[in-house]
Amino acid sequence: MDKVLVTRRIPEPGLEILRAHCEVEVFPHDRNMTREELLEAVQGKDGLLSLLTDRIDTELFDSAPTLRAVANCAVGFNNIDLAAATARGIPVTNTPGVLTDTTADLTWALLMSVARRIAEADRFTRAGKFDGWGPLLMLGGDIYAKTLGIVGMGRIGQAVAKRATGFDMRILYSDDFELDSSAAQSLHAMRTDFETLLRQSDFVTLHVPLTDQTEHLIGEKEFHLMKSTAYLINTSRGPVVDEKALVKALQERRIAGAGLDVFEHEPHIEPELLEMENVVLLPHIGSASFETRARMAIMAAENLIAALQGKVPPNCVNPEVFSKRQGMEQNR
Ligand code: GLV
Repeated sequence: MDKVLVTRRIPEPGLEILRAHCEVEVFPHDRNMTREELLEAVQGKDGLLSLLTDRIDTELFDSAPTLRAVANCAVGFNNIDLAAATARGIPVTNTPGVLTDTTADLTWALLMSVARRIAEADRFTRAGKFDGWGPLLMLGGDIYAKTLGIVGMGRIGQAVAKRATGFDMRILYSDDFELDSSAAQSLHAMRTDFETLLRQSDFVTLHVPLTDQTEHLIGEKEFHLMKSTAYLINTSRGPVVDEKALVKALQERRIAGAGLDVFEHEPHIEPELLEMENVVLLPHIGSASFETRARMAIMAAENLIAALQGKVPPNCVNPEVFSKRQGMEQNR
């Protein structure tokens, strides 16, 4: 029986699938594994079910020469050195699709919270400061009929656009690809260059994967281009935003506020952000609904089993591993 390591407890339906096919070791503590714990526990394993908080790199592959598959329980896989996995013929999988709407919902919640000061107003009310309706109490920015700028119009970006259509928003997006005309029409979304999007949007929301090209996509220069009344929303990956530049932009009132589910050096957060009322901070919970986390766990488990059985798993992000294998077999 193949031996697999699950680096932290995931929803039970995923574990049940794994247990039916493999010998499963689940890290027993309710915290992320330390690097040392991970490097030790992965030794002798055939498969690894990893989380976005686990760094999967050359050092890890070297300490686990028996490893034949890695299934990341996340759509993003920037925590994995894909080139190193591919060079070793190890298929890597992710969990796309199942978390799209849940993440778009959370993006929307964050956008509304920051514009209408929901978290701040809740703190205010709990602190006993509410002494009656006030004409100037907790005024925020309108959402309806404003311009939404979506950076990265993939699955999640489009799901966010869909929500915005109910708010009569003007929707701009920037991406390397253009939506087909029926999608663009039903979403009322207009493609524009990144700079125009930054200049014109009342809300800038980020939905790109973290790559060398998108690291610090939003920094000092971009904050200078944004409206002073605009809000930045990030539910993608922290390093897409230069967090120190964000602090400066907020301090200098170059933008009106930010809604952040992700941080540049998670779980560390720039301390100034913690003090700001016009910032809503969440602990990376974009996909955190009961239903979606269960679907992600099932998907990751099924991917891992397929890969261990030598099949091309449904959500393989380096399928070239299999064509390389086939080539090697044919040459034998
Ligand atoms: C969450 O951030 C994910 O990539 O699934």
